[in-house]
Amino acid sequence: MVKLTWFGHAAWLISFENKNVLIDPFLKENPKSPIKPDELGKIDFIIVTHSHSDHLGDAYEIVKKRGSKLISLFENIQDAEKEGLPEEKLIGMNIGSQVDFEGIKIGFVQAVHSANCTGTVVTGDGVTIYHAGDTGLFGDMKLIGEVYKPKVALLPIGGFFTMGPKEAAMAARMIKPEIAIPMHYGTWPPIDSNPKEFQELLKNEIKVPLLKPGESFIV
Ligand code: NI
Ligand code: MN
Repeated sequence: MVKLTWFGHAAWLISFENKNVLIDPFLKENPKSPIKPDELGKIDFIIVTHSHSDHLGDAYEIVKKRGSKLISLFENIQDAEKEGLPEEKLIGMNIGSQVDFEGIKIGFVQAVHSANCTGTVVTGDGVTIYHAGDTGLFGDMKLIGEVYKPKVALLPIGGFFTMGPKEAAMAARMIKPEIAIPMHYGTWPPIDSNPKEFQELLKNEIKVPLLKPGESFIV
């Protein structure tokens, strides 16, 4: 059983049986997040898809206070080192392959966005989750689907900075997950897209649960 909890925007807590992985922990300044960093339980790994503040969020604070390990692109880890974070808590990777960290496989994949953005593919307890980061639509999402066969795809649908519902529905058709959950919408007015539009475009094709910030989905 793997539990995915959405904190609004692109922030997710993936609770595996023995490990908790937090992705893009934008909590304090996130108007939709129902929790703040101090209310989190044990966090083993924090994955940051890129350095934009709505994704890096409270990552540094959580590493400092909870001893979580931070996993991100090499350059983002260099920035964290400059902020004085303990070296043993920092893991700099790059786009390429999944690596096993204490039983959880974590890898980075391409995303089309600025700030060296990535998507991430996380596998644990037999379930693979693809978090697309901030991205526009690109054809190699099909390849990400073929290589990693994610059961769940977390896709931005807010438009303006990322895919909107139309592009995200096309992305889901390429990735072919069992479940696609929209994210990165409704945080602020420019990205107030309608998740029902995304759901409607994929009806009879892919299961699309709509979560409210703070809600969980179990796979
Ligand atoms: Ni961004
Ligand atoms: Mn963003």
